[in-house]
Amino acid sequence: MAAAPSEPPKTDAPLHVAIVMDGNGRWAKRRGLPRSLGHRAGVEALKRTVAVAPELGIKWLTVFGFSTENWSRPAAEVSELMALPKRYFESDLARLEREGVRVRCWGRRQGLSADLVKMLTDAEARTAHNEVFNLNIAFNYGGQADIVDAARRFAEEVAAGRADPADLNEAVFTQHLSTGAAPPPDMIIRPSGEQRLSNFLLWEAAYAEFIFQDVLWPDFNAEHLKAAIEEYRRRDRRYGGAAADDVLAAG
Ligand code: FPP
Repeated sequence: MAAAPSEPPKTDAPLHVAIVMDGNGRWAKRRGLPRSLGHRAGVEALKRTVAVAPELGIKWLTVFGFSTENWSRPAAEVSELMALPKRYFESDLARLEREGVRVRCWGRRQGLSADLVKMLTDAEARTAHNEVFNLNIAFNYGGQADIVDAARRFAEEVAAGRADPADLNEAVFTQHLSTGAAPPPDMIIRPSGEQRLSNFLLWEAAYAEFIFQDVLWPDFNAEHLKAAIEEYRRRDRRYGGAAADDVLAAG
């Protein structure tokens, strides 16, 4: 049962927040607009979120920009989605760079145009020295694909004699994922009313708290993020252990 809002927080503010930016299409449909305009409005919501997240104690923000399954959308929509990083970086990358934001782009580069690969790589390189805040954009990313790629990388190291299968454990495997440099997400927010993970951060989400909100992503703002953090802070994160009260009661 959810704790009453008046109860004191059980948990510190989340350091790493991940968001499935869902609901752009429905947002556009409700306004009689093409889906492409929903996605563009989604970029504006991303800008708002990146602007406010550091003020709320967040150090890592990960957003799902394009999944390995999104290729099945109509070609025109895929083209529009492929154009979103350019739209975002053209308007915001210089400021992100100046303000100390380190950008990482997770996901497969295969299948993306050479221009887009260059843009993602440049954004990472230009901000590689930054340490104030971390923005991870999952693009052409799928949790299963990332796990397969990590397994392949480890297998290649074994084949080359640089690794021993006996040394494989959770920490080593994590380092082979494209997400390996980041701590696991504390909280995963999915707006739009859908309640599923959709192949996002499958490995990394092992102990993430899930927050589902009814707002459509283009309408997402600081208040939704604050509400999600408040709900998160009322959660009792136990990582498979027992609640402190129960440990005392058990003697
Ligand atoms: C899902 O909503 C959203 C996407 C597939 C794209 C999300 C991308 C952005 C919000 C902008 C990304 C910005 C960068 C920089 C990559 P949907 O289209 O499935 O919505 P629906 O479920 O209402 O149809």
